[in-house]
Amino acid sequence: MTNLLHDPKIIVALDYADAASALKLVNQLDPALCRLKVGKELFTAVGPQFIEQLSRANFGVFLDLKFHDIPNTVAKACSAASNLGVWMLNVHASGGLEMMEAARTAVNASSTKPLLIAVTVLTSMNQQQLNQIGVVGDLATHVLNLAKLTQQAELDGVVCSALEASMLRQKLGTEFCLVTPGIRPANANQDDQSRVVTPKDALNMGASYLVIGRPITLATDPLQALIAIHNQCV
Ligand code: C5P
Repeated sequence: MTNLLHDPKIIVALDYADAASALKLVNQLDPALCRLKVGKELFTAVGPQFIEQLSRANFGVFLDLKFHDIPNTVAKACSAASNLGVWMLNVHASGGLEMMEAARTAVNASSTKPLLIAVTVLTSMNQQQLNQIGVVGDLATHVLNLAKLTQQAELDGVVCSALEASMLRQKLGTEFCLVTPGIRPANANQDDQSRVVTPKDALNMGASYLVIGRPITLATDPLQALIAIHNQCV
């Protein structure tokens, strides 16, 4: 794995309720070794200025707001997110082809052109829950169909389980970006993740980027934890 310093593969999940807690961690991390994921909780609490603050500190930011709305609204949200200078943002593939194409057009029109990816099926959903919302096919097929639709809309990739990465990499080609959570270093606590994969295995299975939270955020020394995981990826 080359260019890890120019294109760090680790995305640290900033799952915090306020700016002070998030910054306490961020100030210990190195932007050459990781990017940062800001999701709905932190973004709703702290707002766009915080994203700009992270960017000024040279961190690439994955704005994980999973937009899902009518095409015009999603396009405008994607423009607004792009204007914050984020590195990556996402939408729900189940918003449909037209919605994703509108998002693509909006991001292409921005001066920053962040990576634009889609969520296929939330990993909190099981087969029964999928059936309850009217999806009749099996879950794996639904994930693949939504990933193909994402590619048809010319988005850059999808969020997926590392366990789906080999199959998606094979079906969708080498250029498609696969962002995988559920990563745990060998011998680490699994927390509430049930299907975990080590960083190196995830990359070998075709993952492009690894979303990692608690193994870094709860470490006694987060920078050392980040460095150790980074070294496992080389
Ligand atoms: O602490 P941990 O490494 O489990 O955090 C993983 C991060 O990835 C969290 O922000 C979680 O919400 C997110 N995520 C996930 N599984 C998904 C999608 C996102 O764990 N399928």
